[in-house]
Formats: sequence, structure tokens, C-alpha cells
Amino acid sequence: MKIVPSGLVLGAVIEEVDLAQQVDPVNFAKIVRALSEHGVLRFPRQTLTPIQLKQFSQRFGSLQASPTGKDCEAGLPEVTILSNIVENGKSLGAPDAGQDWHTDMSYNSVVGYTNVLYGIEIPRRNGEALGATLFANMKLAYDDLPERYKQSLSTAVAVHDFNKFWEATRARPGSKRGPMTAEMRALLPPSRHPVFLDHPVTGDRILYANPGYTVAIEGMSEVQSQETLNFLFAHQLQEKYQYVHRWEVGDVLMWDHIGTLHMANPDYTASERRLIKRCQVMADRVFDPAFVQCVLAPLAQA
Ligand code: SIN
Repeated sequence: MKIVPSGLVLGAVIEEVDLAQQVDPVNFAKIVRALSEHGVLRFPRQTLTPIQLKQFSQRFGSLQASPTGKDCEAGLPEVTILSNIVENGKSLGAPDAGQDWHTDMSYNSVVGYTNVLYGIEIPRRNGEALGATLFANMKLAYDDLPERYKQSLSTAVAVHDFNKFWEATRARPGSKRGPMTAEMRALLPPSRHPVFLDHPVTGDRILYANPGYTVAIEGMSEVQSQETLNFLFAHQLQEKYQYVHRWEVGDVLMWDHIGTLHMANPDYTASERRLIKRCQVMADRVFDPAFVQCVLAPLAQA
């Protein structure tokens, strides 16, 4: 297996590994380390069944299942489908997932660790791939924060709410979504997380707030909280922290949610087909030092 860093603020390509097979412990450890170091990993030219995608993904932690049982593989609620394709009047998957800057599952008490996406149909126009996925590096964003923010927010806690994203999606032209129901709100109550997290694999300090879900900073007035968040959002989305993944058919793309923000670029039309299958891995194991030690142990022996 060969890891080729992009040399940019995020990203590496991992060649000469077949994710349809069980990845051996040494290579798995290298993938975990590379994911933390480079934030976004591309495995080109893969051929995976939905079950193989699930088997690879669940080695990193528990998988979040589609809460509605919709937009997923039949019988596999952990393998969700992102697609604008409509066949026989039926959508193949969620057409508009992730089209604003966010961090998956920051709205849960157990946040997201990594997403694993498999690109099956990628729209192209004039030879250029459309529907790129954009990322921003939150270690660099933290490092560059003015010292007064590092000090004043060192123990601050932010509130994250799924409803913020839901409402933003509803406000888009053509959206047919209603407001979140009482049942949905009860299933997805707001969560609280430190504004600065220490990455469980690298130990790096990370800015953990995102425009998609973060709604407030506890202990501040509403005005002060909003002003602080507006500053953090503008700071973290500066172009110098961004990296763009342009998809090829057969790419498996995974990224570290703890150290990055992402968004899907909706620059394609309804007739330009995009079909991606996805597993969302929770950070229910990676914050356990024993898990990280056990996963990385083969590297010391290799
Ligand atoms: C996501 O937010 O997981 C979707 C990313 C994409 O479709 O490019």
C-alpha cells in the first residue's frame, strides 16, 4: 500500500490496496494514522458492494443508520444513498445532502469520526467533474486564531442543533421539506461540545464549531455568542484552509470529521447524474485511548 500526500492543506491518495478485501492490521493502522494526518483520503479505482463498504467502514467505529429507513440500501440502513437520480418517479437517494459547510453528527452527543463514500456515478460537463466535495482544515484554523480567542474560548462549550441545518435546507428554492416534527426533535435534541477539541489520534488542538449545526456558545449573551460564532465561521472558511476533492468513478473517499469541515458542491443539474453510497462512522471508539493504541500497535512491530 502506498500513501501519496497531496502536499496541500489536506488530502492524500492511497494506492495499491483493495478495500473489497479485509485490510490487514498494519495497513489498517497506516490508514487510521493517515486519516488523522492528512484529513481526507482518496482510494482510487475501487469496486465495492454495499456490504463490503459497510464492512470496511465499521472497523473505525459504529455506523449511524438512516433514522427514517429511507435513502439507504434495502436491508442495510447503515449504507445511505446520496443521489439526484429519479427512476420511475422514485428518488434513488437524498438529492441535497451536505450542501452547506458542516461537520457530520456534531449535533449528536457522540460526534462523527469519519465518513466513507463510494462514487458510482459522477456528473461531468465539458470533460470536468462536477459535484466536488470541499473540505477545510480545522487544526490550521485553530493554530491561526488570534491569541485572545484561544484564551477566552479555552474552556468554552458550544451548542449544536440539527434543526439549524434542516431549516437551511428547507429555505432552499424548491424544497418540499416541512419543519422537523416533534418526534424528530425528540430523537435529535441539541448537543454540547467543547469549542476546542484535542484530536484523539494526533493530540492536535482543533476548532470544533461549524456553520451547519453550531447555534450558540454557552454562558454568553445572545449577541456576544452570535458575534463570536460569526467570527469563527468566517475565520474557519478562509480559502487558505480549503481543499477540493474532484470525484472520479470508483473513488472511495474518507475524511476525518474531527479535524475538518466539508460541503458538497451542488454545481450540477437534475439531469447530470450523481450516485454515491455512504457510511457514517461515529466517534464512539476513537476517543478511547485503548482503541487507538490497539489499532496503531502493529505499526510499532512492523
Ligand atoms: C456528505 O456531507 O456526507 C456528502 C458529501 C458529498 O455528497 O459530496
